Amino acid sequence: METLTIRRPDDWHVHLRDGAMLEFAARYTAQQFARAIVMPNLVPPVTTVDAARHYRDRIRSAIGAHHSFTPLMTAYLTDDIDADEIATGFEEGVFAACKLYPANATTNSAAGVTDVRKLDRVFDRMQAIGMPLLIHGEVVSPDIDIFDREHVFIDTTLAPLVTDFPDLKVVLEHITTEDSVEFVSAASDKVAATITAHHLRIDRNDMFDGGMRPHAYCLPVAKRRKHREALRKAAVSGNAKFFLGTDSAPHQKHDKESDCGCAGIFSAPVAIESYAQTFEEEGALDKLEAFASEFGPHFYGLPLNDETITLERTGHAVPDLIEDAEIAIVPFHAGETINWRLAP
Ligand code: DOR
Ligand code: ZN
Repeated sequence: METLTIRRPDDWHVHLRDGAMLEFAARYTAQQFARAIVMPNLVPPVTTVDAARHYRDRIRSAIGAHHSFTPLMTAYLTDDIDADEIATGFEEGVFAACKLYPANATTNSAAGVTDVRKLDRVFDRMQAIGMPLLIHGEVVSPDIDIFDREHVFIDTTLAPLVTDFPDLKVVLEHITTEDSVEFVSAASDKVAATITAHHLRIDRNDMFDGGMRPHAYCLPVAKRRKHREALRKAAVSGNAKFFLGTDSAPHQKHDKESDCGCAGIFSAPVAIESYAQTFEEEGALDKLEAFASEFGPHFYGLPLNDETITLERTGHAVPDLIEDAEIAIVPFHAGETINWRLAP
């Protein structure tokens, strides 16, 4: 059987949740990734060093001793976030980064930032200490078409921000458009982007394929095919500004299949396999390791992982549903057979 062995990858953007969902979902991330940047959009959000420490303990206990996995914690920025608190958390090695959600942009973002430039004092401090800012890059306005919200965010918010804070490390998360690829490519080496497994495979038509498809709905929403193609090009380009971040975001099947279905795609069970499939289709399997395992640590200034993982090229039937007694989730690639499987 054909195999592919790469340095163990990291996930630079994941939702591990809390409580029963954390217990259920975290193992899927830990079985393939050595580290992950953990999103802070819990209820209530993770805004203090203490809350992050406790959440990190809950993650470690959910994963148990079976996997060696390091959760990298993030601070959720609010209008009145305390700059000293986040700086202390960074200096103590608890916070790896801050996460900026424009208020009401997505799941559990109601406590997010209402006016980004009200936080200039915080960005100043982060810039001074080298703390990365991770951005959900969408404007929130009923007047802006949902398919334009990322593009408008770049023009109105991100471009001025990176001009005014030229040394601030910024990750534009889960990019979905050609405009974002162009913006990040042209920006300084302080500016990078993550790309999800799903945005490399779906476009906006997949949400309406023979009917409404809630399991293809996430935020930022998938765009036109030409944008997906631009993301695929960026991912396989070997440009170190673009690296892996799944944005795996588990929601119960009944919460997605509802009259107001939640945004989020649970890709963790097949994440590295899905990326491998895409890179193979692009004739660029040789570029997977750098994208998945090198460019992220390089940007964050962290060491590369020493361990490896092996993927086997074999028919891998992805289940329709992943469930236990309390939780049932439709994973990304549900019901499909993909080419790659993580070796046990
Ligand atoms: O699709 C998404 N789901 N996008 C986000 O930004 C948040 C996430 C979630 O937490 O479910
Ligand atoms: Zn996310």
